[in-house]
Amino acid sequence: MFKIVNAQKLNDDVFRLDVEAPFVAKKAKAGQFIIIRIDEQGERVPFTIADTDPEAGTVSVIIQKVGQTTMLLSQLKTGDYIEDFVGPLGVATDFGDAKNVCVVGGGVGNAIAYPSAKALHAMGAKVDVIAGFRSKDIVILEDEYKDICDNLYITTDDGSYGDKGFVTDKLQELIDAGNDYDLVIAIGPVVMMKFVSKVTEPYNIKTLVSLNPIMIDGTGMCGGCRVTVGGETKFACVDGPDFDGHQVDYDELMRRNAMYAEFEAHDRENCRLMKMGGVENA
Ligand code: NAD
Ligand code: FES
Repeated sequence: MFKIVNAQKLNDDVFRLDVEAPFVAKKAKAGQFIIIRIDEQGERVPFTIADTDPEAGTVSVIIQKVGQTTMLLSQLKTGDYIEDFVGPLGVATDFGDAKNVCVVGGGVGNAIAYPSAKALHAMGAKVDVIAGFRSKDIVILEDEYKDICDNLYITTDDGSYGDKGFVTDKLQELIDAGNDYDLVIAIGPVVMMKFVSKVTEPYNIKTLVSLNPIMIDGTGMCGGCRVTVGGETKFACVDGPDFDGHQVDYDELMRRNAMYAEFEAHDRENCRLMKMGGVENA
């Protein structure tokens, strides 16, 4: 059993859990993920690690309420326990010898972009961060980013905070202004990673994306997380989750991820009714 030492709401849909898992905290590197099982009957759900504190022995995950498990996790409080917390899994991000980097995070994907920015900053790279959100009320991690990057650019789709527009608009602007990035890291909705990669491709800027296909076992056995990269089948759980952004078949990934959207919406509605005490009628 793994104790939640801090459960914190970040916005209406996103929350953070700091979990006591000293072994994972000691070994985890940026880009890796863990698999959670909330209780003995629970499904296995992967979450990329948002932060670690090896001294305190804690691992942080930032989670968006999407389906049944994330709804149930959002109801846990400080002091509660999670049945399984397995990791670190996947291949850690390979930053090479990048010196001038732009980290692009979209929405809740910023939770995963943040550890990359932090690691690059610790390596001595110049780190610009573009963090995009739909609107001001769902901005997360602004203070945390400020501590570990050279320039932070916040964008909102509706212009309620920072610059109005998508992250891709700001990235194009920064490239046009002469920023000579040797690496761009993009983490967020698949469509965002697709279009960030389209921006960087003509300039031959190395671009890494972190893919989030459906995962089941997380060990390369079930094939659930298969993606096509450079025309070859890869398994995100063991070959990734990071891949060359210019080689990914995003349209296939979007089609596969959409297969469960209806079930997730149904789960969310059930959980809402459960909270209202009306689940028998759901
Ligand atoms: P969102 O839809 O609010 O988008 C966040 C930002 O991405 C926007 O503000 C915008 O700047 C950018 N963006 C969106 N569409 C774009 C487009 N067509 N072109 C250019 N930029 C675009 O994001 P959200 O609701 O917070 O995120 C939810 C999605 O992110 C879910 O689908 C979830 O699965 C995914 N996600 C991915 C990862 C990952 O590892 N890649 C991690 C967490 C969440
Ligand atoms: Fe089963 Fe990757 S999750 S192969």
